[in-house]
Amino acid sequence: MIKSRLCDLLGIKYPIIQAGMGPFSNNNLCVATANAGVLGLLSTSGLASKDTQPWVYKAFVETGEANPDDDRARVLETVLKRTYKLVKDKGGIFGVNVMVSQEMLEHANIIIDTAIRVCEENPDIKNHFKVIFTSAGDPIGWNDKIKGAGFTWIHVVPSVRTALRCKKAGVDVIVASGHEGGFHTSWEPVHSMVLLPAVVEEVSDDKTLVAGAGGFSDGKTLAAALIMGADGVQMGTRFLATQESDFHQLWKESVVEAGDRATLVARGFVGPARWLKTPRSIEHAQNTLKKSPGVFLGTPDDYTTIDMSLIQYENDSIKAVYEGNKEKAMMAAGEVAQRIKDMPKANDLVQEIVREAEALLRNVPQRLLG
Ligand SMILES: Cc1cc2nc3c(=O)[nH]c(=O)nc-3n(C[C@H](O)[C@H](O)[C@H](O)COP(=O)(O)O)c2cc1C
Repeated sequence: MIKSRLCDLLGIKYPIIQAGMGPFSNNNLCVATANAGVLGLLSTSGLASKDTQPWVYKAFVETGEANPDDDRARVLETVLKRTYKLVKDKGGIFGVNVMVSQEMLEHANIIIDTAIRVCEENPDIKNHFKVIFTSAGDPIGWNDKIKGAGFTWIHVVPSVRTALRCKKAGVDVIVASGHEGGFHTSWEPVHSMVLLPAVVEEVSDDKTLVAGAGGFSDGKTLAAALIMGADGVQMGTRFLATQESDFHQLWKESVVEAGDRATLVARGFVGPARWLKTPRSIEHAQNTLKKSPGVFLGTPDDYTTIDMSLIQYENDSIKAVYEGNKEKAMMAAGEVAQRIKDMPKANDLVQEIVREAEALLRNVPQRLLG
């Protein structure tokens, strides 16, 4: 059976992470993937969208069976307890994805403090809720809080430089996220085939594990990552298009139907973002070129300089997804959408990925080494 150090560290069956895909709900997807034997991740940034994107917040609380009038900590507590209840009998393992960028710091502290409190109140939750996965910010400064509370700490990076910073911070698992990945992507593009082995070579050791993200969707890509020295892979777009995924049917079907050269990069909420190519997203890319060319030049801008009409356009286009308005909708996804042709159940998908990876890895010596 296929197995790696990531399985040993987390107690998962297969070396796969279901990506957190905020601000959208992953509440039911996380249950399905955790029960399928991989690490399931709940996204949490949707909890901060009550006023800015109420349609996103509504979907988040509905799928998490939470009370929309509760405060953020109480909603998260409900979602964490629900997830625990739904995975515990099958031994599922899960975590939360938390954005720790400057503008999300207050929110991040609410999420992590709530996670710690929920586990203290019911220690068995800790046997299933094992991971805090931080993203979109500096890892330095979070070690004491996250690892001090006994969580395994995972952080995602777009470069070797930030991977080295993670190592300094004491991160347990570094996810190297290539530019082909879905939604928010790095200002300076380096894709998985270069980034993943570069990060493995620089930081992987007895204490620090590495996983790849961006472009992974099946047994072939999982096997390739393991051969490159990774301890596992994270998949976003692939899990988005599954039966149990919380994403709108329009979004899931658009991934399945995407076809060749299916995505483009244009302005997103916190920087460059990868979208499915549609007339609407093409227009957004053209506007980005005019109003925020740094997205294509690798020169970051932020909320002090950004033309807010781009953010408004993004918000309106995401709202359109929730209204089922195909013409106006913009849907984030990775380049790998072009390789996704079906919408399976999460468990069937995981079994097929693992079966294919095992068969390929078994054949390697005979096929390639004579
Ligand atoms: C719709 C969508 C939303 C995402 N939101 C987040 C997020 O909130 N935080 C994060 O760390 N990564 C986010 N990602 C990136 C994923 O976590 C993951 O790294 C990426 O999807 C991997 O590439 P792939 O799409 O080729 O599998 C998002 C991806 C998608 C497709």
